[in-house]
Amino acid sequence: MITSALPYANGRLHIGHIRSTYLPADIHTRYLKNKGEKAFHVCGTDEHGTPILASAIRSGKKPQEIVDYYHKIIKQSLESTLIHFDIFSRTTKKHHYKLAQEFYIAAKKEGYIDYREVPILYCEKDRIALPDRLVVGTCPYCGAENQYGDHCEVCGRTYNAFQLKNPRCAICNSTPIIKHSRHAFFKLSELSDKLRDWVKNGVKLTKGVREHVLHWIREGLQDWDITRDIVWGVSVPDLPNQVFYVWWDAPIGYVSFTKELFDNLGLDWRHIWVDENGYIVHYIGKDIIYHHVLFWPAMLMVNGFSLPNEIRVRGFATLEGQKMSKSRGHVIDLEEFVEIWNPEYLRFYWGITTSESLDDGDFSLREFQAKINKVLIGEIGNFVNRVIQLIIRGNISKGSIEKEYVMNLIDKIDKYEKDINNNKFDEALNDVIEVAGIGNKLLSDREPWKNLNSEKAKNTLVTAHTMVVAISILGDPYLPVSCKKLREIIGIGNETNELLLNLKRLIQDEEFISHSLGTILNRKTKIKPLFAKVKESDINRMRHKLQGG
Ligand code: MSP
Ligand code: ZN
Repeated sequence: MITSALPYANGRLHIGHIRSTYLPADIHTRYLKNKGEKAFHVCGTDEHGTPILASAIRSGKKPQEIVDYYHKIIKQSLESTLIHFDIFSRTTKKHHYKLAQEFYIAAKKEGYIDYREVPILYCEKDRIALPDRLVVGTCPYCGAENQYGDHCEVCGRTYNAFQLKNPRCAICNSTPIIKHSRHAFFKLSELSDKLRDWVKNGVKLTKGVREHVLHWIREGLQDWDITRDIVWGVSVPDLPNQVFYVWWDAPIGYVSFTKELFDNLGLDWRHIWVDENGYIVHYIGKDIIYHHVLFWPAMLMVNGFSLPNEIRVRGFATLEGQKMSKSRGHVIDLEEFVEIWNPEYLRFYWGITTSESLDDGDFSLREFQAKINKVLIGEIGNFVNRVIQLIIRGNISKGSIEKEYVMNLIDKIDKYEKDINNNKFDEALNDVIEVAGIGNKLLSDREPWKNLNSEKAKNTLVTAHTMVVAISILGDPYLPVSCKKLREIIGIGNETNELLLNLKRLIQDEEFISHSLGTILNRKTKIKPLFAKVKESDINRMRHKLQGG
């Protein structure tokens, strides 16, 4: 059970989102499916929360209209980036509301909910409790006007919205009132010991994450305010004017979406989420570690649900060395990217530059162009192309594979699988590049084009051909469309679903190899190269756009 963090349905996804979350999850799922495993990639949009309500009020629309609009856009942009989900649902579905309420009722029954009066700033005009970010006013320290309720951009100090002088609602500019509201709290602090044990021994985490979380536990966990005075969200059964805080219901989406998927497939979701018969992996970016390694498992614990087996966290993407920012226009949306470039180029770029660590990574146009033109095309594309063209030119229908190269290739396949299983997706892609590298060297050492009729040339090309076969399968999780195209060219049909399970056999199976060579030779239409270069003009145009042109 592989999940990706649910994107908020109030904006477009940019190229950074897929770096930490959707691409690694997609690569993992595709790999497992190629191994013949039962793997599911589950996701959907996160459609609640104050920011969504605020943008609805601002634009004079209903929140439902906003999330309908963005759900569609987000879903399409992920599809166009070749991110595949077994289900991509939404947190505004009825069955999701029901499950979110059941989680609460069970937590309450187990004694983990209590009620406390909290002061809130409330805009009566917009009927919305204002979080710090939605209050503006005068800085209590330096007197600068028009500052947000959490910190002052002039003097840099932080405070809370109650300290602001002359506070106003950031949506409608009216003066909010201070209200006391009875909220439900989840007693996270009482779960500290259980969470510590689990973080230490019960879950596999990416490097660095365990230390962060243990540090938070040592500092002391605060009980968690899980309800809000707004009109958009999952209603709280015993607090009629409130809805759940968006982070209460959002992760429950992992379960409710699985249920939706499994109901359709005739499978039992409890098998995974209650009976611990599955293996659950969450993919997230590093800003939401607290929510996934503390809040979420605590919710699962008190409900008697299965806990995640792994949480895989990756760092943030920057663009040309700077933080991405929608408001400053310093951003490349997914839709914008795929309009200009092959989506596989983005997958390849992040694939080769993103490690399993919390380190951030930059999308640099220069670097992007180099990685695609020199590595993807220069190494992989050219190798595949040369082998196929030489097979055609020499009309090569048989030859003997050189044992030593096949043994080498088998080692590489093992290394690749080990890398993927260890969450080292960049190294696994590098293994694929290395296969092409060995192949390229073989060709330039032997120069088979000098005498394509010789035994030696035939053996060289039949040996190189096994490497093309390997690339078409090992590369698949990263470059699914091109690898499929390549497999069609070399006669690996769609009937072989468990591609990777068959690979070692294929590269040693003489019958398959002569079938594959036959398929290549029989093609009537000309075989075109798989990839086109990233053009200087497109790079310049994008650079110009980012500079505000
Ligand atoms: N809705 C929450 C997640 C709820 S999960 C139960 C959320 N949404 S988000 O749209 O802000 O982010 C979606 C994913 O993209 C998160 O995993 C987040 O960490 C990741 N990223 C957002 N901006 C990113 C970058 N600039 N770079 C890399 N990943 C980024 O958080
Ligand atoms: Zn207001």
